Amino acid sequence: MNSLVRRTHQLHQLWRTYCSAPASAASRTAGRPSYEEFIGQHQQQAQRSIVVQVSSEKSYAELYNYCSRFGSILGAHHYCVRQDEALHYVLLEYATAGEAAAAIDAGVTNGDLSGVPVRSPFLWFRAAAAAGARRGPKLASQPAPTALLSIDGNRPAEQEHLLIVLRGARDIEEQVQLLHQHSRLNELGVRLRFLAALQVQQAISGMFPAAQALPFGSSVNGFGKMGCDLDLILRFDNDTGGGGGGHQEPSRLVYHTKENLSNGRSQTQRHMECFGDMLHLFLPGVCHVRRILQARVPIIKYHHEHLDLEIDLSMSNLTGYYMSELLYMFGELDVRVRPLTFSIRRWAQACGLTNPSPGRWISNFSLTCLVMFFLQQLRQPILPTISALAKAAEPSDMRITEDGINCSFGRDLERLGFRSRNQSSLSELLLQFFEFYSQFDFHNRAISLNEGRALAKPDHSAMYIVNPLEQLLNVSKNVSLEECERLRIEVRNAAWVLESEVESASLSPEAGEGHGSHNERLEMSWGLLNLFKQPEKAVIRPNMFFKPRMVEVSDLFEQKEAS
Ligand code: GTP
Ligand code: MG
Repeated sequence: MNSLVRRTHQLHQLWRTYCSAPASAASRTAGRPSYEEFIGQHQQQAQRSIVVQVSSEKSYAELYNYCSRFGSILGAHHYCVRQDEALHYVLLEYATAGEAAAAIDAGVTNGDLSGVPVRSPFLWFRAAAAAGARRGPKLASQPAPTALLSIDGNRPAEQEHLLIVLRGARDIEEQVQLLHQHSRLNELGVRLRFLAALQVQQAISGMFPAAQALPFGSSVNGFGKMGCDLDLILRFDNDTGGGGGGHQEPSRLVYHTKENLSNGRSQTQRHMECFGDMLHLFLPGVCHVRRILQARVPIIKYHHEHLDLEIDLSMSNLTGYYMSELLYMFGELDVRVRPLTFSIRRWAQACGLTNPSPGRWISNFSLTCLVMFFLQQLRQPILPTISALAKAAEPSDMRITEDGINCSFGRDLERLGFRSRNQSSLSELLLQFFEFYSQFDFHNRAISLNEGRALAKPDHSAMYIVNPLEQLLNVSKNVSLEECERLRIEVRNAAWVLESEVESASLSPEAGEGHGSHNERLEMSWGLLNLFKQPEKAVIRPNMFFKPRMVEVSDLFEQKEAS
């Protein structure tokens, strides 16, 4: 056990140095990249990078010395993909995209194996003898001057490590912060996702030189956890609805193009079918390709075996991309937003409110909307409304999608000038969140992040969250009445548990009460951990909040039985 604690401590230190430290309150406004800058910086970083499979991390010095001939290597990251046995990979970052391209261009196809000779940033490093190396200085004898960072880019922290870390926290506040630091997607995870996007983009660049595969969703909005899927949208041109060419005179030379099919949706489905085949047949690493073309937004799902990553590729509906930008901005506007959301998502997962597969339950995205709305409607709001952001839009912020959906809002975080005066701690906000939704009238009210207040519900959906960018749609249309009621029970239970945790934390540890001494706390579940306990069965806590408006649990069971 002691060695596990020590190892956890080491991991903790490594993590601290590896992940950028959370911004302090003072640096909240300084030098934050906009979403487009963030995406652009990572796209460029991917262009400068290659991923090389090696037999183990011991090959690094040799790989470094070999690959240095193409340019100067700025950084190196080792990760493993575990199948029957661990497969080792090194991500090398060159100083320029040209140097990475030179390394890729120097690649050859393996004459011994049959395979489609595709150029991609995914390579493997064969043994010197197999490569027919000429005699010369032994490459491995020179140590690599760039340290090899070895940290997983995909796998979530092991439960046991997380448990020890959270038990060792000073208080609930620190537990919320630590949970965020230890479960969020790390820098390597982001790099790997941008490389997956680049691979698709490069594969079609011959026919579509301006094509962009844009990552969106939790991989880039700052709400992703380790192992989250990658959402990609493929655009044939680099027009994301901002109007592009400015005041340049339009060219008089116009490309001949294929005539569009009359129905845009069936055309997208045909194109996607074709891309699905291309990914499946030609792209190294791509496997288990599935086409889900009848969905509202048709997607191709696939697994990337060199990145250990699930990918959802779409070609239509840019609103998801812009919604991710809004969430990214919300996360950047206040340092409490992401840690709070991580704790709430974790709690929802633990009590079975969310589920990785889609269904009648609340999705992570809808749950995140509930958190954002809660932070908007506070007496002293922590987040602005989306209408306020839309009002702050300048001409350069105008974005209209090809379907005519207006996604214009102020995008410059500094220019928005939003500062919250709310001083609540994370544990106070967490409790307030549970209390707020214990009282929320889901039966009659809809949640509007555009207005930051509840509106009359326009239809009979069990839960109604106005889709911020397509306001006639309901984000949580899928949620059943039963699941909505379960959410109400679970938030009430959580409020009850957290209230008693906060109370016992306030008791003096010296008096032998409360959560006890530091050593005692290391041995027990306390604070946030008690929120994450799997329910043995639906334990119903006393109804502390707004008794008159609550559905009594006995009523609920009757309803369930009746249905
Ligand atoms: P996880 O994949 O669960 O980690 O979270 P996610 O945020 O990536 O959710 P998901 O993969 O389901 O969706 C990807 C992104 O699409 C979300 O982050 C949103 O930006 C966007 N999105 C999903 N559902 C909707 C919706 O109903 N309306 C709009 N406008 N955007 C949506
Ligand atoms: Mg996702």
